[in-house]
Amino acid sequence: MQTRRPLIAGNWKMNLTQEESVGLAREIALGIKGLNDVDVLVAPPYTVLGKVKQALQGTSVLLGAQNMHWEEAGAFTGEISASMLLEVGCTHVILGHSERRSLFQETDEMVARKCTAAQRRNLVPIICIGETLEEREKGLTFQVIQVQLAGALGAFLETGRMPAGTVLAYEPVWAIGTGRTATPEQAQEVHAFVRRWLAEHLEEGAAASTRILYGGSVKPGNIRALMAQPDLDGALVGGASLKAGSFLNIVRGACQTGA
Ligand code: PGA
Repeated sequence: MQTRRPLIAGNWKMNLTQEESVGLAREIALGIKGLNDVDVLVAPPYTVLGKVKQALQGTSVLLGAQNMHWEEAGAFTGEISASMLLEVGCTHVILGHSERRSLFQETDEMVARKCTAAQRRNLVPIICIGETLEEREKGLTFQVIQVQLAGALGAFLETGRMPAGTVLAYEPVWAIGTGRTATPEQAQEVHAFVRRWLAEHLEEGAAASTRILYGGSVKPGNIRALMAQPDLDGALVGGASLKAGSFLNIVRGACQTGA
């Protein structure tokens, strides 16, 4: 039975103007009023985080960033640190998104460093993992997931303790932005595997309390079936998070099946 509170997170990627971002944030905040059974988060681009934070003041919508560097400060042109994200009001940060991994050569080791930096500053990481189509077709899905988990969570394995609230997001690369969602059964199979892995490697209770989101072409039309799976605790939504209507319908869908 689902005891974890669902989380629906919108990853806006490199989209929207300042005006559009603020407008979308306001519409989301208004639209989720009264929906008390679900956490809602938006992850806009860096340049609008401050403005979106202002627009969300006094609402329950959480603010996350899409990435960060592991160092605190210094000569890292173009990078942003955990303290900078905290300063503009972020509570969460997406780490190791597959676009970061494939387009910007992020490795598990880099993701691990970022996880440690997030932990140091009490920023909650949303750690993304997922296999490519080629890996799935070769039957390597679980192997890939296991390597990514061990790599990204490496720093926490000694104590078995992850930062409070840590979120994992299973995002099969072949389902991201393709319109081709994993079936609820395919997603559940991997989510259950991830939870078993957490149970084997982390302190007692961590596996049961960790939220594992699914990401990859989540839409209002498929959220209910996905959320009906026992190990699916929410969604990381890209394309469908850019319009208030579709994002809010996903949030509503998660409310009805979750909790
Ligand atoms: P998508 O993206 O919903 O557009 O497939 C998901 C993600 O990349 O987090």
